[in-house]
Amino acid sequence: MHKDVERILVGEEELDSIVTRLAAEIDRDYAGEDKRLVLVCILKGSIVFMGDLMKKLTVPCEIDCMKVSSYGAGTTSTGSINIHLDLVRQDLDSCDIVIVEDIIDSGNTLSYLVDYLRLKGAKSVRTCTLLDKPSRRKVEFVPDYRGKEIPDEFVVGYGLDYAEKYRDLPYVGVLSPSVYAE
Ligand code: PRP
Repeated sequence: MHKDVERILVGEEELDSIVTRLAAEIDRDYAGEDKRLVLVCILKGSIVFMGDLMKKLTVPCEIDCMKVSSYGAGTTSTGSINIHLDLVRQDLDSCDIVIVEDIIDSGNTLSYLVDYLRLKGAKSVRTCTLLDKPSRRKVEFVPDYRGKEIPDEFVVGYGLDYAEKYRDLPYVGVLSPSVYAE
């Protein structure tokens, strides 16, 4: 275990079984000729989850990426989001999008993105998150696919960072408070 991690919250085996279950749920819902599944990875935290999830799908999928950030993250409930990297495609009206997130906290990012992609003309939009912290919600938001509900603790690993570190850990761990108190 990394020295800055206090304890492992979701280990490698549990992550694998969560991702397997989520892929099976998506497989079930997106089978059929009339569906065109497009997974949209929200950079950067979702990279690892997205890679594992797409490998486990049996339905065909396309992938795309967006990068966004919250204005005044953690302090406002406006839901205002800054889009740094948008989708560049003219065929949204034929895309059944599943937005792939590593974690939902306030709910601002996903509630904004769902509305944004629907307004841009996507055929359908659903959401899939690996982790969910419902105790931190500022806007009501329920994902369509949810890996695991977790308590309000500072987690890193499997894509999630603190100051851009720890994304490469193969598990989700609770960061030692001494690291961010420094
Ligand atoms: C995190 C996470 C979500 C968002 C969730 O991204 O990946 O995108 O915050 O928070 P919310 O529910 O309060 O909107 P972050 O801004 O840390 O960027 P990163 O993925 O590049 O680390």
